[in-house]
Amino acid sequence: MLPYFPFGQQFNDKMGTYPFGENDPLIDVDDNYPAELLLKRALLSERPDYYYQTLPGCETAQWEALELILTTLAQTKPDQFTLHKEQTTWHWNNHLLNEKTDFIPGDSSTLPTDPLNWAGLQVQEDLLLLAGEDASLVAGHLCFANDWCLDEKLGLPFWQIHAPIIPIVEPMMRAAQKSLERLPVGRPVWRLNWSVKVTDQLDMTSRHLPALKQALAEQLPYLTPNTIGNQLFIRVERQTLTRLPRSGAILFGIHTYQNRLANEVNSRPGGAAHMANVFSTTPPAMLDYKSMTDFLPALLTYLHNQ
Ligand code: HEM
Repeated sequence: MLPYFPFGQQFNDKMGTYPFGENDPLIDVDDNYPAELLLKRALLSERPDYYYQTLPGCETAQWEALELILTTLAQTKPDQFTLHKEQTTWHWNNHLLNEKTDFIPGDSSTLPTDPLNWAGLQVQEDLLLLAGEDASLVAGHLCFANDWCLDEKLGLPFWQIHAPIIPIVEPMMRAAQKSLERLPVGRPVWRLNWSVKVTDQLDMTSRHLPALKQALAEQLPYLTPNTIGNQLFIRVERQTLTRLPRSGAILFGIHTYQNRLANEVNSRPGGAAHMANVFSTTPPAMLDYKSMTDFLPALLTYLHNQ
């Protein structure tokens, strides 16, 4: 069952951000950790400049992000990660990967790669940094993006990152931009985003778009109400936004979760009805944006039959 389920009574046109509760994690570690970390490593060694990019001038923010992530993990998951801070040197032990790293915070020559990228190789989340008054994307370790990539968005402010904006969500995006600009230190927020896919491939960065479109086109004729539960996957992103105190930058973390539709329906009482509520009230332009228009009738029939 998905750990987060963003489906309620109807399509939500609000930005849907929540302040962190006492037990809300900045970083989540689940059973997919080993496989996802292996995949991240493969992607980054195959195409380092595609999955990690930075603009100059955000070194402080990169170190702050790394320090926050490691400190948080060591505090919240002491069986899996330990961190000893010794004068200038930090000793990090990732027990899940069986890897030890010693480094000097602030000294990038002591890590094998940039701090944000290295931190991204300790966690399942994709990690991005936004900086400046207009919250521009200044750095990213982005392996599991849903239909976008750093080549397209690095350097762009929040508003342009989201352009062209679907008219129905424009007020929500204005509110999001304001709340991002005013996000206080020590008051992180999180939100969920959802999509429905014909594959559970994690890396859906833009370079895979043609193949993903083709896979959808090929499968469309076979997506029937009887079979669609086993053919589709629900993809949920838990996104966190944290203001970093020294640099003033924002750390944007994205953890992607997926489950086969039928598994989700069978394990979550009322889940089918909630998904049907949301999909049937999602505006057509948004359904198009999410590439759901063509299979929506079969999907709704399946969900109503549960
Ligand atoms: C409160 C904060 C945010 C809100 C309310 C928000 C909302 C949205 C919405 C509504 C969409 C499109 C529809 C959908 O998939 O549901 C979207 C897509 C997207 N968002 Fe955000 N977002 C937020 C933060 C961010 C941040 C900080 C980034 C930084 C990189 C970001 C990057 C993107 C990208 C790259 C897309 C895909 C755009 C495309 O299709 O080219 N979002 N976001």
